Formats: sequence, structure tokens, C-alpha cells
Amino acid sequence: MVLGRRIPCLSLSYLVAVLAFSHLVAVLGAQKQLRFGQNGNFKILQVADMHFADGKITPCLDVFPGQMRTCSDLNTTAFIERMIRAENPDLIVFTGDNIFGFDATDAAKSLTAAFAPAISSNIPWVAVLGNHDQESTLSRDGVMKHIVGLKNTLSQVNPAEAHVIDGFGNYNLEIGGVRGSEFENKSVLNLYFLDSGDYSTVSSIPGYGWIKPSQQFWFQRTSAKLRRAYENKPQPQKGPAPGLVYFHIPLPEFARFDSSNFTGVRQEGISSASVNSGFFTTMVEAGDVKAVFTGHDHLNDFCGELTGIQLCYAGGFGYHAYGKAGWSRRARVVVASLEKSEKGDWGAVKSIKTWKRLDDQHFTAIDGQALWSKSPAGGRRKKEVGRA
Ligand SMILES: *[C@@H]1O[C@H](CO)[C@@H](O)[C@H](O)[C@H]1NC(C)=O
Ligand SMILES: *[C@@H]1O[C@H](CO)[C@@H](O)[C@H](O)[C@H]1NC(C)=O
Ligand SMILES: *[C@@H]1O[C@H](CO)[C@@H](O)[C@H](O)[C@H]1NC(C)=O
Repeated sequence: MVLGRRIPCLSLSYLVAVLAFSHLVAVLGAQKQLRFGQNGNFKILQVADMHFADGKITPCLDVFPGQMRTCSDLNTTAFIERMIRAENPDLIVFTGDNIFGFDATDAAKSLTAAFAPAISSNIPWVAVLGNHDQESTLSRDGVMKHIVGLKNTLSQVNPAEAHVIDGFGNYNLEIGGVRGSEFENKSVLNLYFLDSGDYSTVSSIPGYGWIKPSQQFWFQRTSAKLRRAYENKPQPQKGPAPGLVYFHIPLPEFARFDSSNFTGVRQEGISSASVNSGFFTTMVEAGDVKAVFTGHDHLNDFCGELTGIQLCYAGGFGYHAYGKAGWSRRARVVVASLEKSEKGDWGAVKSIKTWKRLDDQHFTAIDGQALWSKSPAGGRRKKEVGRA
């Protein structure tokens, strides 16, 4: 009888434990589940500079005078919904200045409203910080903590393995190969997210912040760890899986192009930090990064290649962000595509392409271009020669 009485108690706590555990597994599982679809593609939507504030009562900037009366933050919301419907991405990345803090009465409310279309789409999404996110009622730490508490986000405040790291919102995501393929347990595409800071805190250095040595060190170690895993069993690969890097403030290297060697437009200066942090060199040295995506300068939307890395802007997205009347708000889409083996099985990433979409009447797609493509024969031959 004693036993009989105990069993229900035990089974109840057992049930609770099992439920809690399976919830944990489901949460962890959901995070691990980012992978290429059965069509061999993984699509990322980048939304830069929403500058969301108080919603309906927040007016638009830089639209034609005749458009002012009917234009607010809600147009930014409608644009995200439109992008999601048209592109159906696998991941949405918000690259900072998600809210325009000065005009946001309550940072938590503004953040929740800004990300609402992503949240309700049930598509996984992530965000990093810009230089305006902390200007309302929450600090940078507070903003990032609020973001990671929202539904369907894979954002992290900072990586658990980095004990000391500058900023808030440094983390990476591994995108697995197609389920059932030889690459199902490998990360075939690596995404890195970094906090490029807000403003310099060094009195002798004016201007914007930059990616600090502690962050670069974490990036370097993470890139090396991912490369080792990719080069190891199962399906050992030669060289690293391609990597894509997302943050807010462009690097000084974005200024190395002109219209003869970029795709898109440059209609304002490159507002990077006034010093060079060396992060571009760190990425070139790591060897896996194929493209970098930033925001910050709303009137620039180009991609240009320097030393094997594409440096890309997304172009301004938000209606409460400065822009140019008649020059449509826009967003960037990136698609990575897998190669097929002789057996017809999905393999490693073969190519990475991008285009932008304008929030105009026809939702025009512009500036389609290849950012990177794998050259298996060439790459392999070089290595074999090197080893001989
Ligand atoms: C903003 O949204 C309203 C309501 O849908 C629409 O009438 C207006 O044309 C939009 N404004 C701009 C500049 O897109
Ligand atoms: C991937 O891992 C799962 C679980 O450990 C295993 O069952 C499966 O065989 C692995 N797939 C490959 C291609 O190695
Ligand atoms: C782009 O072209 C200009 C000359 O028109 C040159 O000065 C610059 O170095 C080029 N940039 C790159 C990254 O190739």
C-alpha cells in the first residue's frame, strides 16, 4: 500500500521531470535544427536599420511630403511582413539600430513591436546591436537580454565558452547539411554575429566603436574549431566550410571601392570607426569568411570584394530612419546552395548568391550577383601541389 501510494507521487514527479527534460531537448533541438532544406538551399533575409520607435505615432523620415500623413513605423512592420511573404527565408538577421532609442518611450515595448513580424512568422531570427539600440530605457546589456527572451530567436547575449568578451550579442550559428545526406551531422555553413559597439570610449579616439581584440580572439578560436570539425570525420573535407559574418558598423575597408568594382550604390561616406581594429585581416587570416554584411549607412547598398571577402551593405530598411525620398527602402537576401554528389546526395556548399528587394510597387529585385562559388578542382590541385 505504501508503495501503491508512492507510485503516483513518483510518477507525477517523473512526468514533470520528463516534460521539463523533453522541453529542454526541444529547445536545444530547435537551436541545432538549422539546416539546409530538401531543396539544397538556405536563405537568409537581412534587415538593417529598422529604427523602430513608438509605432503608429512615430512619423517617417525622408519620404515625399505627400506621403507623410499616412506613413509611420507601421510601414516598417508592413515591409518586413511583405519580405517574409515573398522570400520565405530560413533565417532572418537584424543587423542593428533595430530601434531608434532616442524616440522610443519604452525600449522593451519598441523591441518587441519591431521584431513582431519575425516572431509571428515562426521563422528563426537573430539580432545584433547597432549604435542607437541603447538610447532609450535599456542599456546595451539590457537590450540584448530582452532580445534573447523573445520567441523564436536564436540570438545569444554572449558565448558561454568566452569568459571575457567585449560587447553584447557575439555568437555563432552552425547550419547543418540536408537531413539524411552524408553531411547531415556537419555544419556546412557558419554564421558569425558580432557587436560592433556604439561609440569610442577612448577620449583620444573620436567616433564610432569597433570590434575589440577579445571578440576577434573568440571569432578566431571559433573559426578554427569549426574548421577542425569540418576537416574531420564523417566526410572529412579539405579546408573550412564557408562563413558569413553579420554586424552593424562597416569596416574601414568598405571605403576601398568605387563604382568600377562594386555592385550597388554609394551615396554617402563610409561611417566606420576612425581607427582600424584589424578585424578584416583577422577574417582573411581565418580563411573561411566569404562575405560580411553590415548596415549603418542607409544610403549605401553595395557589395565589393577585397582579398577574397565580399563586403556588403544591406541598404536602409526602416521608415523612421534617414533615407532619401524616392529611393526605396530595401533589404538584402542571401542564398547558399549545396552541390550534389555523383550519387545524387546533397553535399557541401557550392555557391552563395545575393540580391536586394525594394519596397516599391512591384517589389523589385535588383543587383543579383554571385558572392562566392566553390572551385573544387582548382582548390584541390593547389593543395596537392603544396603537399608534393
Ligand atoms: C505606408 O503605409 C500606408 C498604409 O498602408 C500606405 O498607404 C502608404 O503609402 C505607405 N507609405 C509609404 C511611403 O510606403
Ligand atoms: C548522424 O548522427 C546520427 C545520430 O548520431 C546518426 O544516426 C547518423 O547515422 C549520422 N549520420 C551520418 C551521415 O553520419
Ligand atoms: C577599385 O577600383 C579603383 C580604381 O577605379 C581602385 O583604386 C581600387 O583599389 C579598387 N578597389 C579594389 C578593392 O579592387
